[in-house]
Amino acid sequence: RVKYSGKKGQLTAILRGMGALEPEARREVGELANAVRGELEAAIADKAATLKRAALEARLASEKLDVTLPGREKACGRLHPLHTVENRIREIFIGMGFTVVEGPEIESAYNNFDALNAPADHPSRDFQDTFYIDETTLLRTQTSPVQIRAMTGKTPPIRVISPGRVYRSDDVDATHSPMFHQVEGLVVDKGITMADLKGTLDLFARSLFGEETRPHHFPFTEPSAEVDVSCFVCGGKGCRLCKGEGWIEILGAGMVHPNVLASCGIDPEVYSGFAFGMGIERVAMRRYNINDMRLFFENDVRFLSQF
Ligand code: DAH
Repeated sequence: RVKYSGKKGQLTAILRGMGALEPEARREVGELANAVRGELEAAIADKAATLKRAALEARLASEKLDVTLPGREKACGRLHPLHTVENRIREIFIGMGFTVVEGPEIESAYNNFDALNAPADHPSRDFQDTFYIDETTLLRTQTSPVQIRAMTGKTPPIRVISPGRVYRSDDVDATHSPMFHQVEGLVVDKGITMADLKGTLDLFARSLFGEETRPHHFPFTEPSAEVDVSCFVCGGKGCRLCKGEGWIEILGAGMVHPNVLASCGIDPEVYSGFAFGMGIERVAMRRYNINDMRLFFENDVRFLSQF
């Protein structure tokens, strides 16, 4: 385009020079020059269109997008089933007016045993069951020491639950693990009786399970109660897991001993209380029909992704 029809182009020079020609020659050259200009412009427009098309085709080829490819799924995490169950337990008790408190996993033997009125020969103190750090310090075997922390220096009414990890040197099997989770509950006020304990646990058990629980005798506190659920494996017929009983313990409970209240500075003549402690793993096993506690801790996504 520049070579022929630009400012200094060859055709431009011819057209400019026409004024100097004789009229006869001017007409002839004019006709010819116009014809050439027409052809030239058509050829340039044609070439421009070809180049534009080629550029578009090159872009389409390089930016090809296959909208039929399946999308890439984002892997999405979720709560561990033990957390889900713990959250549900929290909700139920918060709904009954409890607050949530926490205590340390490394505890004094005093808070874990003595202050809870467990005499030196109480079966729970057995060295075989407890991970001692030294003679006076241990990994808590239960969440019950949080009761002592919740009562000392406090004035009733007290209404707390305390979820957390506990440790026992138990051999691993389908219903035991050296580390597991409990939720402790404690209520202290004027006029608290066994009936309050029963009503609280009854409402709790029905909220979580429906009807498949039973109250049962718990031999470690006095007066005492235990909550059992029908066995997760046999459903109550009796099998190896439940040792032929058809029931599995999930919770121990009792009235708070007057000595325990007194050692925390609460007058047992004025106040009374109840307490309970439940195993979260066993609650979760019942809830989801899981037959082996080890599944919770193996971190196999094929198991975990089912919840
Ligand atoms: N600490 C008991 C356990 O680990 C459970 C328990 C029983 C807690 C009776 C209590 C209670 O508060 O009153 O088996």
